[in-house]
Amino acid sequence: MNYALGFDIYGTLVDPLEMNQHLRAFVGEDADQFSALWREKQLEYSFRRGLMGKYENFQVCTQQALIFTAQTMKVEISSFAQAKLLEEYQNLSAFADVLPGLHELKAQGHKLVAFSNGAEETVRTLLERTQVLAILDNVISVDDLETFKPNPAVYKYLARRLKRPMNETWLISSNPWDVIGAKSVGLKSAWIKRTPDKVFDPWGIEPDLVATTLEELAMSFRK
Ligand code: LAC
Repeated sequence: MNYALGFDIYGTLVDPLEMNQHLRAFVGEDADQFSALWREKQLEYSFRRGLMGKYENFQVCTQQALIFTAQTMKVEISSFAQAKLLEEYQNLSAFADVLPGLHELKAQGHKLVAFSNGAEETVRTLLERTQVLAILDNVISVDDLETFKPNPAVYKYLARRLKRPMNETWLISSNPWDVIGAKSVGLKSAWIKRTPDKVFDPWGIEPDLVATTLEELAMSFRK
């Protein structure tokens, strides 16, 4: 059986916490804390904008979260340096298992697309630089609907764009809230548990598959 697989990007294909490398120059050993708070706020801003119906794209959420984080951590980052950091956000590297895992899944005959809260142009640049774009069949962004995951409408949109029934459309994500969002509208979902201590939200909604890497995911699909 071949499926349509929609891959979350941040945290699943690339690691946003890798921004800590660029933050070290500003905050030294607090760089990990900075990048974690930045990511948390970026997501919170997207969730809140979705709920409020006040859409601004993910790039804006990322930029405003950066300003918030810098103010919270009492560090001065000039607008020039902010722009450079945001540029680096499109330069994140793919996890080591991503290219081999995607190649294997493609060879198995599945249709592969990126499915992200990120705006299409931004994520295309990122995916091109990581050489992921060439393997994918398409890039689908929530920007088309001007709202964010986990709004049920965006997961339905994924299945519609892929022209597949909901139960043959998979969301592949390392983010538990994303997996739960997809499952709750009837999509299939695999949780990529990239760190052993990552906790899945205890909502009584479980992923259909759990894998630690995309290579492991490909092995599970082969069975
Ligand atoms: C994505 C972020 C939200 O959709 O993880 O790629």
